[in-house]
Amino acid sequence: MRVPTRSTTAFVPRTPKLTDVRTRPSPRPTGRVGAVPAVRGTPLRVKSAVKYSGRSDSLRVAATATDAPLGVFKLEYDISKDDATKSADWNEPVIVAVSGAAGQISNHLLFKIASGEVYGQDQPVALRLLGSENSREALEGVAMELEDSLFPLLREVSIGIDPMDVFVDADWALLIGAKPRGPGMERADLLEMNGAIFVGQGKALNEVAKPTCKVCVVGNPCNTNALICMENAPNLDRKNFHALTRLDENRAKCQLALKAGVFYETVTNVTIWGNHSTTQVPDFVNAQIGGEKAMEVIDDSEWLEADFTPAIQTRGGLLIKKWGRSSAASTAVSIADAIKSLVTPTPEGDWFSSAVCTDGNPYGIEEGIVFSMPCRSTGDGSYEIVEGLEINDWLRERIKKSEDELTKEAECVSHLTGKLGGACELMGAEADTMLPGEV
Ligand code: LMR
Repeated sequence: MRVPTRSTTAFVPRTPKLTDVRTRPSPRPTGRVGAVPAVRGTPLRVKSAVKYSGRSDSLRVAATATDAPLGVFKLEYDISKDDATKSADWNEPVIVAVSGAAGQISNHLLFKIASGEVYGQDQPVALRLLGSENSREALEGVAMELEDSLFPLLREVSIGIDPMDVFVDADWALLIGAKPRGPGMERADLLEMNGAIFVGQGKALNEVAKPTCKVCVVGNPCNTNALICMENAPNLDRKNFHALTRLDENRAKCQLALKAGVFYETVTNVTIWGNHSTTQVPDFVNAQIGGEKAMEVIDDSEWLEADFTPAIQTRGGLLIKKWGRSSAASTAVSIADAIKSLVTPTPEGDWFSSAVCTDGNPYGIEEGIVFSMPCRSTGDGSYEIVEGLEINDWLRERIKKSEDELTKEAECVSHLTGKLGGACELMGAEADTMLPGEV
């Protein structure tokens, strides 16, 4: 019987590639720290993975080394040689880089991705986990749990703390890591602090990711972080950048369904317009329930305007008050949903919300910001903005407010996007949204 083998890998310099797991890394350049906790310039010591003889009683550890990262592996076992039916239609592995990988959101998300729930049961996955210097050990813990979960589609797990290593050849970059706001901090401080992270990550994506890489920014303030990332990654199509508003869409769908007394799936065509902040606009005007206008099904405009709308706008803040920390599981679910919406065709007549670059948008929103709008996908990872939604006065006024907020945020980070001369006017602005806090 053929036996599955796993071999360890870790972030080594871009040449040789990560997949050459037994290749000795070159000395790392001074000033860059990699995931391999060995002394720089020394050979990577490879821990031979557990080898299976095919009999449960003969499981043995072939060899161990003390300083190789735990949990990282590249699965060399070709499952099709044993059982062609299992993997006959598998695609080439998709390389998914995740920042904030040791945080709580990732702890939910990574296992969904590895299970095949997100990219599909015919889609093998290579996970590249990005953490920080402080989370090295935790990253290994995450990698170990992934390894222990026996996901057939999970072909590779690697860890690292330098985006220039972790983002190499990435097909997807899920940027969850961001610093949390502390006591006494102004929102402008927050933009500055997290903005710097997304400058570095944007530059790294620009240099080492696939030019087709799709980027989903979750770390708050996610719209403007996505803008910073996009402006620092000119090699990537601006249409490849998203900021997560699917969580808001899911929240809106749930509340509409509960109010109407129907199953969630009945609620469709829900748009979140604008910023992932308290100015976001959950659109009940164009939403549908069972194919009917939600406003007609619910027939309670006071509830829609005065209860539903602020409830969705402040749901994240309320969760923080309840939990003492920001949402994690539901955020992970919504990231999975956001990706699924891009890799599967959107059902006829429906759309999903994602904050995307406004260049050339059909709603007259100022260009050059990242703004949540209704999108459709053919399932190839790209999207089109859905045109022709009804924008009544109520919506227009609120969409404008969110647009103004994002324009101001963009001004505040103009020094991070290569557009010098912006004036930051956000000090003292209403700022309810806290950060996921996954570093
Ligand atoms: C959310 O909406 O739950 C997250 O963005 C966290 C937050 O700060 O509200």
